[in-house]
Amino acid sequence: MKRLAIPVFLMMMGTAGAQTKSGTVAKKAPVKTAPIAKNKLASTPAIKKEDVEEGKVLLSKSDCLACHKVDTKVVGPAYADVAKKYPYSTTNVELLSTKIINGGSGTWGAVPMAAHPALAAADVKKMVTYILSLNTK
Ligand code: HEC
Repeated sequence: MKRLAIPVFLMMMGTAGAQTKSGTVAKKAPVKTAPIAKNKLASTPAIKKEDVEEGKVLLSKSDCLACHKVDTKVVGPAYADVAKKYPYSTTNVELLSTKIINGGSGTWGAVPMAAHPALAAADVKKMVTYILSLNTK
């Protein structure tokens, strides 16, 4: 354990060194950003038929169809249009699931979608998988 103490101490020194005497933070080296979106798209597993079927049932049991239809805009966008806008990927499933749980507006217009905090995240992901499957026939 004693060996660890030296690098930890050096790290602390390094942090302190970032602060100049006048109190302003010294310029940090530019942070390299990895192409996360691309990587995630590449790692998206194939769409699961069971998830699509389960998602469709879950969606019909919730309030979704009061505001959404597959082919026509009602209060919310048509699911076919949502599927066209967002290709099926892990990233997009997560993005849309968060939106459904938290609610929100601004992507399709000013009308907000109600929040759905009572829904389980795993169920919402299946609903989204069903919606996005409408574009991969
Ligand atoms: C009260 C009406 C209403 C209900 C109920 C509703 N939605 Fe929505 N939904 C909307 C509106 C309005 C939008 C557009 C929001 C926007 O423009 O950002 C939307 C957008 C969406 C989007 C696209 C989000 C985006 O950022 O592009 C998805 C996916 C979606 N809804 C799925 C669902 C699901 C699944 C349910 C049921 C759990 C549901 N909605 C229930 C009104 C509703």
